[in-house]
Amino acid sequence: MRVSSHAVAGMVGSWREGPGPAHQCLSDRLRLLILDGRLCLGAALPSERDLATALGTSRTTVGTAYRTLVEHGYLATRARARATVRLPDDTSPERRASALPETIDLSVAAPAAPVEILHVAFATTLEQLPRHFERHGYDGYGTAELREAVAHWYRRRGLPTSPDHILITHGAQHALALLARTLLSPRDKVLIDHPTYPHAIRTFLDVRARPLPVALTPSGWDTAQLHAAARAAHLAYLIPDFHNPTGMCMPTSMRRSLRPACLTVIDETMTDLDLDGADAEPFALHMPTAVSVGSVSKSIWGGLRIGWIRAAPSLLERVEQVRPATDLGTSVVEQLATAVLLNAHQTLRPTALDRLRRQRHALGQALAEYLPHVNAPQPAGGMTMWVTFPDPISSRLAAVAPDHGVTITAGPRFGIGGAFERHIRLPYTLSPDQLTRAIRRLAQAERALKEGATGTHTPAPVA
Ligand SMILES: Cc1ncc(COP(=O)(O)O)c(C=O)c1O
Repeated sequence: MRVSSHAVAGMVGSWREGPGPAHQCLSDRLRLLILDGRLCLGAALPSERDLATALGTSRTTVGTAYRTLVEHGYLATRARARATVRLPDDTSPERRASALPETIDLSVAAPAAPVEILHVAFATTLEQLPRHFERHGYDGYGTAELREAVAHWYRRRGLPTSPDHILITHGAQHALALLARTLLSPRDKVLIDHPTYPHAIRTFLDVRARPLPVALTPSGWDTAQLHAAARAAHLAYLIPDFHNPTGMCMPTSMRRSLRPACLTVIDETMTDLDLDGADAEPFALHMPTAVSVGSVSKSIWGGLRIGWIRAAPSLLERVEQVRPATDLGTSVVEQLATAVLLNAHQTLRPTALDRLRRQRHALGQALAEYLPHVNAPQPAGGMTMWVTFPDPISSRLAAVAPDHGVTITAGPRFGIGGAFERHIRLPYTLSPDQLTRAIRRLAQAERALKEGATGTHTPAPVA
Protein backbone atom coordinates (compact mmCIF):
# COMPACT_ATOMS: atom_id res chain seq x y z
CA MET A 1 0.00 0.00 0.00
CA ARG A 2 1.33 3.43 -0.99
CA VAL A 3 1.02 6.22 1.54
CA SER A 4 0.82 9.70 0.04
CA SER A 5 3.11 12.52 1.13
CA HIS A 6 0.01 14.41 2.22
CA ALA A 7 -1.06 11.50 4.48
CA VAL A 8 2.40 11.18 6.04
CA ALA A 9 2.57 14.95 6.60
CA GLY A 10 -0.79 14.75 8.39
CA MET A 11 0.41 11.89 10.58
CA VAL A 12 3.71 13.43 11.65
CA GLY A 13 1.88 16.61 12.71
CA SER A 14 4.18 19.15 14.41
CA TRP A 15 7.28 17.00 13.96
CA ARG A 16 9.84 19.77 14.51
CA GLU A 17 8.99 19.96 18.21
CA GLY A 18 11.60 18.39 20.42
CA PRO A 19 15.36 18.54 20.86
CA GLY A 20 17.95 17.71 18.21
CA PRO A 21 18.35 18.43 14.51
CA ALA A 22 15.36 18.35 12.13
CA HIS A 23 16.26 14.99 10.55
CA GLN A 24 16.36 13.38 14.01
CA CYS A 25 12.98 14.86 14.99
CA LEU A 26 11.54 13.51 11.73
CA SER A 27 13.04 10.02 11.97
CA ASP A 28 11.91 9.82 15.58
CA ARG A 29 8.35 10.78 14.66
CA LEU A 30 8.25 8.30 11.76
CA ARG A 31 9.66 5.56 14.00
CA LEU A 32 6.88 6.15 16.54
CA LEU A 33 4.26 6.04 13.78
CA ILE A 34 5.68 2.67 12.69
CA LEU A 35 5.83 1.29 16.24
CA ASP A 36 2.31 2.49 16.82
CA GLY A 37 0.90 0.80 13.73
CA ARG A 38 -0.28 4.01 12.11
CA LEU A 39 2.26 3.42 9.35
CA CYS A 40 1.47 -0.21 8.56
CA LEU A 41 4.03 -2.92 7.83
CA GLY A 42 4.73 -3.03 4.10
CA ALA A 43 3.41 0.50 3.49
CA ALA A 44 5.39 2.29 0.77
CA LEU A 45 6.48 5.76 1.91
CA PRO A 46 6.52 8.76 -0.43
CA SER A 47 9.71 9.71 -2.24
CA GLU A 48 12.15 11.95 -0.39
CA ARG A 49 11.33 14.83 -2.71
CA ASP A 50 7.54 14.54 -2.33
CA LEU A 51 7.71 14.27 1.45
CA ALA A 52 10.13 17.19 1.67
CA THR A 53 7.70 19.35 -0.33
CA ALA A 54 4.72 18.26 1.79
CA LEU A 55 6.61 19.00 5.01
CA GLY A 56 8.17 22.26 3.80
CA THR A 57 11.67 21.00 4.54
CA SER A 58 14.78 20.06 2.58
CA ARG A 59 15.25 16.81 0.74
CA THR A 60 18.45 16.28 2.75
CA THR A 61 16.42 16.28 6.00
CA VAL A 62 14.03 13.63 4.70
CA GLY A 63 16.85 11.60 3.12
CA THR A 64 18.83 11.57 6.38
CA ALA A 65 15.72 10.62 8.38
CA TYR A 66 14.98 7.75 5.97
CA ARG A 67 18.59 6.52 6.17
CA THR A 68 18.44 6.50 9.98
CA LEU A 69 15.29 4.39 9.80
CA VAL A 70 16.93 1.98 7.35
CA GLU A 71 19.96 1.64 9.66
CA HIS A 72 17.72 0.79 12.62
CA GLY A 73 15.63 -1.70 10.70
CA TYR A 74 12.41 0.32 10.30
CA LEU A 75 12.57 0.81 6.52
CA ALA A 76 13.57 -1.48 3.67
CA THR A 77 14.88 -0.04 0.44
CA ARG A 78 15.36 -1.41 -3.07
CA ALA A 79 16.78 0.33 -6.11
CA ARG A 80 14.19 2.45 -7.95
CA ALA A 81 11.43 1.50 -5.49
CA ARG A 82 9.82 3.37 -2.62
CA ALA A 83 11.08 2.67 0.90
CA THR A 84 8.74 0.28 2.69
CA VAL A 85 7.93 0.00 6.37
CA ARG A 86 9.34 -2.96 8.28
CA LEU A 87 10.22 -3.73 11.88
CA PRO A 88 13.58 -4.63 13.40
CA ASP A 89 14.13 -8.34 13.91
CA ASP A 90 11.87 -10.14 16.37
CA THR A 91 14.90 -11.25 18.30
CA SER A 92 15.67 -7.86 19.83
CA PRO A 93 15.64 -8.08 23.63
CA GLU A 94 13.29 -5.10 23.90
CA ARG A 95 10.58 -6.76 21.88
CA ARG A 96 10.96 -10.05 23.70
CA ALA A 97 10.56 -8.18 26.97
CA SER A 98 7.15 -6.94 25.85
CA ALA A 99 5.95 -10.55 25.86
CA LEU A 100 7.00 -11.20 29.47
CA PRO A 101 4.07 -12.64 31.39
CA GLU A 102 4.42 -10.15 34.22
CA THR A 103 3.79 -7.21 31.90
CA ILE A 104 0.48 -5.56 32.77
CA ASP A 105 -1.63 -4.97 29.68
CA LEU A 106 -3.53 -1.68 29.69
CA SER A 107 -4.14 -1.73 25.95
CA VAL A 108 -7.31 -3.85 25.92
CA ALA A 109 -10.53 -2.62 27.48
CA ALA A 110 -12.42 -5.86 27.98
CA PRO A 111 -13.36 -7.94 31.01
CA ALA A 112 -12.29 -11.50 31.78
CA ALA A 113 -14.99 -14.16 31.32
CA PRO A 114 -17.71 -14.53 33.98
CA VAL A 115 -17.00 -18.25 34.30
CA GLU A 116 -20.02 -19.50 36.22
CA ILE A 117 -22.72 -17.89 34.14
CA LEU A 118 -20.99 -19.03 30.95
CA HIS A 119 -20.98 -22.63 32.22
CA VAL A 120 -24.69 -22.48 32.93
CA ALA A 121 -25.47 -20.86 29.56
CA PHE A 122 -23.48 -23.43 27.58
CA ALA A 123 -25.03 -26.33 29.54
CA THR A 124 -28.51 -25.04 28.58
CA THR A 125 -27.28 -24.55 25.02
CA LEU A 126 -26.27 -28.20 24.72
CA GLU A 127 -29.83 -29.19 25.60
CA GLN A 128 -31.26 -26.82 22.98
CA LEU A 129 -28.79 -27.57 20.21
CA PRO A 130 -30.38 -30.78 18.81
CA ARG A 131 -33.39 -28.82 17.55
CA HIS A 132 -31.02 -27.16 15.07
CA PHE A 133 -29.48 -30.39 13.79
CA GLU A 134 -31.99 -30.91 11.00
CA ARG A 135 -30.98 -27.61 9.40
CA HIS A 136 -27.65 -26.86 7.71
CA GLY A 137 -26.62 -24.26 10.29
CA TYR A 138 -25.77 -21.47 7.84
CA ASP A 139 -27.82 -18.35 8.44
CA GLY A 140 -26.80 -14.86 7.39
CA TYR A 141 -29.32 -13.26 9.75
CA GLY A 142 -28.75 -15.39 12.85
CA THR A 143 -30.88 -17.84 14.83
CA ALA A 144 -34.49 -17.00 15.67
CA GLU A 145 -33.71 -17.44 19.39
CA LEU A 146 -30.97 -14.81 19.47
CA ARG A 147 -32.71 -12.34 17.15
CA GLU A 148 -35.71 -12.43 19.49
CA ALA A 149 -33.50 -12.10 22.59
CA VAL A 150 -31.75 -9.04 21.12
CA ALA A 151 -35.10 -7.52 20.04
CA HIS A 152 -36.26 -8.02 23.63
CA TRP A 153 -33.09 -6.28 24.89
CA TYR A 154 -34.22 -3.18 22.95
CA ARG A 155 -37.86 -3.50 24.03
CA ARG A 156 -36.76 -3.60 27.68
CA ARG A 157 -35.00 -0.30 27.04
CA GLY A 158 -38.26 1.15 25.68
CA LEU A 159 -37.54 0.79 21.96
CA PRO A 160 -40.14 -1.32 20.10
CA THR A 161 -38.17 -3.86 18.05
CA SER A 162 -39.03 -7.10 16.30
CA PRO A 163 -36.59 -9.88 15.34
CA ASP A 164 -36.95 -8.75 11.69
CA HIS A 165 -34.93 -5.67 12.64
CA ILE A 166 -31.98 -7.69 13.94
CA LEU A 167 -29.04 -9.30 12.12
CA ILE A 168 -26.51 -11.22 14.23
CA THR A 169 -22.78 -10.68 13.62
CA HIS A 170 -19.40 -11.75 15.02
CA GLY A 171 -19.23 -8.82 17.43
CA ALA A 172 -19.77 -5.10 16.91
CA GLN A 173 -16.57 -4.78 14.90
CA HIS A 174 -17.91 -7.19 12.30
CA ALA A 175 -21.20 -5.27 12.30
CA LEU A 176 -19.32 -2.05 11.52
CA ALA A 177 -17.30 -3.72 8.77
CA LEU A 178 -20.45 -5.12 7.15
CA LEU A 179 -22.18 -1.73 7.33
CA ALA A 180 -19.13 0.03 5.88
CA ARG A 181 -19.03 -2.40 2.98
CA THR A 182 -22.76 -2.09 2.38
CA LEU A 183 -23.15 1.67 2.73
CA LEU A 184 -19.88 3.33 1.73
CA SER A 185 -18.04 3.96 -1.53
CA PRO A 186 -14.51 5.29 -1.98
CA ARG A 187 -14.19 8.99 -1.04
CA ASP A 188 -17.48 9.08 0.91
CA LYS A 189 -17.11 11.18 4.03
CA VAL A 190 -17.88 9.60 7.39
CA LEU A 191 -18.51 11.84 10.38
CA ILE A 192 -16.77 10.46 13.46
CA ASP A 193 -16.43 11.58 17.06
CA HIS A 194 -12.86 12.76 17.61
CA PRO A 195 -11.45 10.83 19.48
CA THR A 196 -13.21 7.59 18.61
CA TYR A 197 -12.84 3.81 18.62
CA PRO A 198 -9.68 3.09 16.55
CA HIS A 199 -10.91 0.02 14.67
CA ALA A 200 -13.88 2.03 13.39
CA ILE A 201 -11.45 4.51 11.82
CA ARG A 202 -9.57 1.58 10.31
CA THR A 203 -12.81 0.07 8.98
CA PHE A 204 -13.81 3.29 7.22
CA LEU A 205 -10.33 3.80 5.77
CA ASP A 206 -10.36 0.21 4.53
CA VAL A 207 -13.30 0.92 2.21
CA ARG A 208 -11.43 4.11 1.20
CA ALA A 209 -13.95 6.41 2.88
CA ARG A 210 -12.72 9.68 4.40
CA PRO A 211 -13.21 10.29 8.12
CA LEU A 212 -14.64 13.71 8.99
CA PRO A 213 -13.73 14.29 12.63
CA VAL A 214 -15.92 16.35 14.95
CA ALA A 215 -14.21 17.20 18.23
CA LEU A 216 -15.54 15.70 21.42
CA THR A 217 -14.48 18.31 23.95
CA PRO A 218 -14.22 17.89 27.74
CA SER A 219 -17.78 19.23 27.90
CA GLY A 220 -19.00 16.65 25.38
CA TRP A 221 -20.62 16.67 21.95
CA ASP A 222 -21.40 19.90 20.10
CA THR A 223 -24.80 19.74 18.37
CA ALA A 224 -24.11 22.65 15.99
CA GLN A 225 -20.81 21.15 14.82
CA LEU A 226 -22.34 17.71 14.39
CA HIS A 227 -25.20 19.12 12.32
CA ALA A 228 -22.82 21.15 10.14
CA ALA A 229 -20.50 18.20 9.52
CA ALA A 230 -23.38 15.79 8.87
CA ARG A 231 -24.51 17.98 5.98
CA ALA A 232 -21.20 17.21 4.24
CA ALA A 233 -21.08 13.53 5.24
CA HIS A 234 -22.49 10.37 3.73
CA LEU A 235 -22.65 8.60 7.09
CA ALA A 236 -22.21 9.50 10.76
CA TYR A 237 -20.73 7.09 13.31
CA LEU A 238 -21.34 8.06 16.94
CA ILE A 239 -20.79 6.35 20.31
CA PRO A 240 -23.21 8.25 22.57
CA ASP A 241 -23.37 5.59 25.32
CA PHE A 242 -20.17 5.59 27.44
CA HIS A 243 -18.04 6.56 24.54
CA ASN A 244 -14.76 4.76 23.84
CA PRO A 245 -12.26 6.19 24.84
CA THR A 246 -13.71 9.05 26.96
CA GLY A 247 -16.52 7.18 28.77
CA MET A 248 -18.87 10.14 28.20
CA CYS A 249 -22.60 9.72 27.87
CA MET A 250 -24.59 12.02 25.57
CA PRO A 251 -27.24 13.89 27.58
CA THR A 252 -30.90 12.99 27.01
CA SER A 253 -31.79 16.50 25.80
CA MET A 254 -29.18 16.23 23.04
CA ARG A 255 -30.35 12.75 22.02
CA ARG A 256 -33.84 14.18 21.64
CA SER A 257 -32.76 17.11 19.49
CA LEU A 258 -29.84 15.73 17.44
CA ARG A 259 -30.88 15.09 13.83
CA PRO A 260 -27.82 14.52 11.63
CA ALA A 261 -28.74 15.03 7.97
CA CYS A 262 -27.00 11.79 6.94
CA LEU A 263 -27.61 8.15 7.83
CA THR A 264 -26.37 7.65 11.39
CA VAL A 265 -24.81 4.53 12.88
CA ILE A 266 -24.96 4.40 16.67
CA ASP A 267 -22.49 2.14 18.45
CA GLU A 268 -24.10 0.75 21.62
CA THR A 269 -21.30 -1.64 22.56
CA MET A 270 -20.93 -0.01 26.02
CA THR A 271 -24.62 0.69 26.71
CA ASP A 272 -25.02 -1.75 29.60
CA LEU A 273 -21.97 -0.38 31.45
CA ASP A 274 -23.83 2.47 33.11
CA LEU A 275 -21.90 3.14 36.33
CA ASP A 276 -23.58 6.30 37.61
CA GLY A 277 -27.23 5.88 36.62
CA ALA A 278 -27.19 7.91 33.39
CA ASP A 279 -30.01 5.65 32.12
CA ALA A 280 -29.33 6.55 28.48
CA GLU A 281 -32.38 6.42 26.18
CA PRO A 282 -31.77 4.39 23.01
CA PHE A 283 -30.77 6.83 20.31
CA ALA A 284 -33.16 5.24 17.79
CA LEU A 285 -36.10 6.10 20.05
CA HIS A 286 -35.84 9.68 18.80
CA MET A 287 -34.32 9.01 15.41
CA PRO A 288 -36.07 5.95 13.96
CA THR A 289 -33.80 5.89 10.89
CA ALA A 290 -30.70 5.41 13.06
CA VAL A 291 -28.88 2.11 12.60
CA SER A 292 -27.68 0.60 15.89
CA VAL A 293 -24.76 -1.71 16.46
CA GLY A 294 -24.50 -3.74 19.67
CA SER A 295 -22.46 -6.46 21.33
CA VAL A 296 -22.09 -8.57 24.45
CA SER A 297 -18.28 -8.27 24.35
CA LYS A 298 -18.06 -5.70 27.14
CA SER A 299 -21.14 -6.58 29.16
CA ILE A 300 -20.45 -10.35 29.17
CA TRP A 301 -17.36 -11.58 27.32
CA GLY A 302 -15.49 -10.69 24.12
CA GLY A 303 -14.71 -14.36 23.54
CA LEU A 304 -18.33 -15.05 22.63
CA ARG A 305 -17.81 -12.93 19.49
CA ILE A 306 -21.47 -12.03 19.27
CA GLY A 307 -22.83 -8.67 18.17
CA TRP A 308 -25.67 -7.37 16.03
CA ILE A 309 -27.11 -4.70 13.78
CA ARG A 310 -30.55 -3.19 14.44
CA ALA A 311 -31.91 -1.60 11.27
CA ALA A 312 -34.86 -1.56 8.86
CA PRO A 313 -35.36 -4.99 7.23
CA SER A 314 -34.61 -3.46 3.80
CA LEU A 315 -31.12 -2.42 4.96
CA LEU A 316 -30.51 -5.77 6.68
CA GLU A 317 -31.34 -7.46 3.38
CA ARG A 318 -28.55 -5.48 1.70
CA VAL A 319 -26.13 -6.36 4.50
CA GLU A 320 -27.04 -10.02 4.21
CA GLN A 321 -26.29 -9.91 0.48
CA VAL A 322 -22.84 -8.38 1.10
CA ARG A 323 -22.00 -10.80 3.91
CA PRO A 324 -21.01 -13.99 2.03
CA ALA A 325 -17.87 -12.29 0.71
CA THR A 326 -16.43 -12.49 4.24
CA ASP A 327 -18.39 -15.08 6.22
CA LEU A 328 -21.44 -17.28 5.97
CA GLY A 329 -22.99 -16.75 9.36
CA THR A 330 -22.34 -16.95 13.09
CA SER A 331 -21.81 -20.11 15.14
CA VAL A 332 -25.15 -21.57 16.28
CA VAL A 333 -23.68 -22.67 19.62
CA GLU A 334 -22.45 -19.20 20.59
CA GLN A 335 -25.73 -17.66 19.44
CA LEU A 336 -27.82 -19.99 21.57
CA ALA A 337 -25.63 -19.39 24.61
CA THR A 338 -25.87 -15.63 24.12
CA ALA A 339 -29.66 -15.85 23.84
CA VAL A 340 -29.73 -17.68 27.18
CA LEU A 341 -27.53 -14.99 28.72
CA LEU A 342 -29.56 -12.10 27.32
CA ASN A 343 -32.86 -13.66 28.39
CA ALA A 344 -31.45 -13.99 31.91
CA HIS A 345 -30.45 -10.27 31.83
CA GLN A 346 -26.80 -11.22 32.34
CA THR A 347 -25.56 -8.10 30.56
CA LEU A 348 -26.64 -6.11 33.61
CA ARG A 349 -25.01 -7.97 36.51
CA PRO A 350 -24.84 -5.76 39.62
CA THR A 351 -21.68 -7.57 40.77
CA ALA A 352 -19.88 -6.84 37.49
CA LEU A 353 -20.92 -3.18 37.58
CA ASP A 354 -19.83 -2.87 41.21
CA ARG A 355 -16.46 -4.37 40.33
CA LEU A 356 -16.04 -1.83 37.53
CA ARG A 357 -16.89 1.02 39.92
CA ARG A 358 -14.26 -0.21 42.39
CA GLN A 359 -11.68 -0.53 39.63
CA ARG A 360 -12.51 2.93 38.27
CA HIS A 361 -12.02 4.30 41.79
CA ALA A 362 -8.70 2.46 42.21
CA LEU A 363 -7.43 3.80 38.89
CA GLY A 364 -8.40 7.36 39.88
CA GLN A 365 -6.60 6.96 43.23
CA ALA A 366 -3.46 5.54 41.63
CA LEU A 367 -3.35 8.38 39.10
CA ALA A 368 -3.76 10.95 41.86
CA GLU A 369 -0.89 9.35 43.78
CA TYR A 370 1.65 8.50 41.05
CA LEU A 371 0.77 10.82 38.16
CA PRO A 372 -0.80 13.82 39.91
CA HIS A 373 -0.04 16.14 36.98
CA VAL A 374 -2.35 14.28 34.54
CA ASN A 375 -5.95 15.31 34.12
CA ALA A 376 -8.19 12.26 34.58
CA PRO A 377 -11.93 13.02 34.50
CA GLN A 378 -14.10 10.25 35.92
CA PRO A 379 -16.15 8.62 33.13
CA ALA A 380 -19.90 8.08 33.55
CA GLY A 381 -19.62 4.49 32.38
CA GLY A 382 -17.87 2.13 30.02
CA MET A 383 -14.47 0.79 30.99
CA THR A 384 -11.91 3.45 30.05
CA MET A 385 -10.51 6.75 31.28
CA TRP A 386 -9.14 9.27 28.80
CA VAL A 387 -6.31 11.03 30.57
CA THR A 388 -4.38 14.11 29.47
CA PHE A 389 -0.68 14.75 30.11
CA PRO A 390 0.71 18.30 30.19
CA ASP A 391 3.09 17.48 27.29
CA PRO A 392 2.71 15.65 23.95
CA ILE A 393 4.44 12.44 25.04
CA SER A 394 1.83 9.78 24.30
CA SER A 395 3.47 7.87 21.42
CA ARG A 396 6.91 8.01 23.05
CA LEU A 397 5.46 6.84 26.37
CA ALA A 398 3.71 3.90 24.64
CA ALA A 399 7.03 2.88 23.06
CA VAL A 400 8.91 3.05 26.40
CA ALA A 401 6.26 1.72 28.81
CA PRO A 402 6.82 -2.02 28.08
CA ASP A 403 10.42 -1.62 29.31
CA HIS A 404 8.81 -0.85 32.68
CA GLY A 405 6.32 -3.73 32.59
CA VAL A 406 3.16 -2.08 31.27
CA THR A 407 1.65 -1.72 27.79
CA ILE A 408 -0.59 1.17 26.79
CA THR A 409 -2.16 2.44 23.61
CA ALA A 410 -1.01 5.87 22.45
CA GLY A 411 -3.64 8.60 22.15
CA PRO A 412 -3.17 9.22 18.40
CA ARG A 413 -4.59 5.74 17.71
CA PHE A 414 -7.97 7.22 18.66
CA GLY A 415 -7.87 10.01 16.12
CA ILE A 416 -6.63 11.09 12.75
CA GLY A 417 -3.92 13.49 11.61
CA GLY A 418 -1.63 12.91 14.58
CA ALA A 419 -4.08 14.35 17.14
CA PHE A 420 -4.12 13.34 20.82
CA GLU A 421 -0.38 13.22 21.53
CA ARG A 422 -1.14 14.46 25.04
CA HIS A 423 -3.69 11.69 25.73
CA ILE A 424 -3.73 8.03 26.63
CA ARG A 425 -6.63 5.70 27.24
CA LEU A 426 -6.52 3.69 30.44
CA PRO A 427 -8.96 0.80 30.87
CA TYR A 428 -10.10 -0.18 34.36
CA THR A 429 -10.80 -3.82 33.61
CA LEU A 430 -8.03 -5.22 35.84
CA SER A 431 -8.05 -5.66 39.63
CA PRO A 432 -7.39 -2.60 41.85
CA ASP A 433 -4.04 -4.10 42.80
CA GLN A 434 -2.95 -4.60 39.17
CA LEU A 435 -4.14 -1.12 38.24
CA THR A 436 -2.14 0.45 41.06
CA ARG A 437 1.00 -1.44 40.02
CA ALA A 438 0.44 -0.52 36.37
CA ILE A 439 0.16 3.20 37.11
CA ARG A 440 3.26 3.08 39.32
CA ARG A 441 5.13 1.53 36.39
CA LEU A 442 3.72 4.10 33.99
CA ALA A 443 5.03 6.86 36.24
CA GLN A 444 8.47 5.18 36.14
CA ALA A 445 8.25 5.06 32.34
CA GLU A 446 7.39 8.75 32.22
CA ARG A 447 10.42 9.56 34.39
CA ALA A 448 12.65 7.43 32.13
CA LEU A 449 11.31 9.27 29.10
CA LYS A 450 12.17 12.62 30.69
CA GLU A 451 15.68 11.28 31.29
CA GLY A 452 16.05 10.49 27.58
CA ALA A 453 14.87 6.87 27.19
CA THR A 454 13.56 5.88 23.76
CA GLY A 455 11.47 2.78 23.26
CA THR A 456 11.32 0.27 20.45
CA HIS A 457 8.08 -1.52 21.16
CA THR A 458 5.53 -2.46 18.55
CA PRO A 459 1.91 -1.37 18.88
CA ALA A 460 -0.25 -2.85 21.55
CA PRO A 461 -3.56 -4.30 20.37
CA VAL A 462 -6.59 -2.11 20.95
CA ALA A 463 -10.11 -3.19 21.87
C1 LIG B 1 -17.03 1.33 20.74
C2 LIG B 1 -16.69 -0.06 20.33
N1 LIG B 1 -17.29 -0.59 19.26
C3 LIG B 1 -17.02 -1.84 18.86
C4 LIG B 1 -16.12 -2.63 19.52
C5 LIG B 1 -15.86 -4.02 19.03
O1 LIG B 1 -16.56 -4.90 19.84
P1 LIG B 1 -16.70 -6.46 19.54
O2 LIG B 1 -15.77 -7.14 20.47
O3 LIG B 1 -18.13 -6.74 19.83
O4 LIG B 1 -16.37 -6.69 18.11
C6 LIG B 1 -15.46 -2.13 20.63
C7 LIG B 1 -14.45 -2.94 21.32
O5 LIG B 1 -13.65 -2.43 22.06
C8 LIG B 1 -15.76 -0.82 21.06
O6 LIG B 1 -15.16 -0.28 22.12
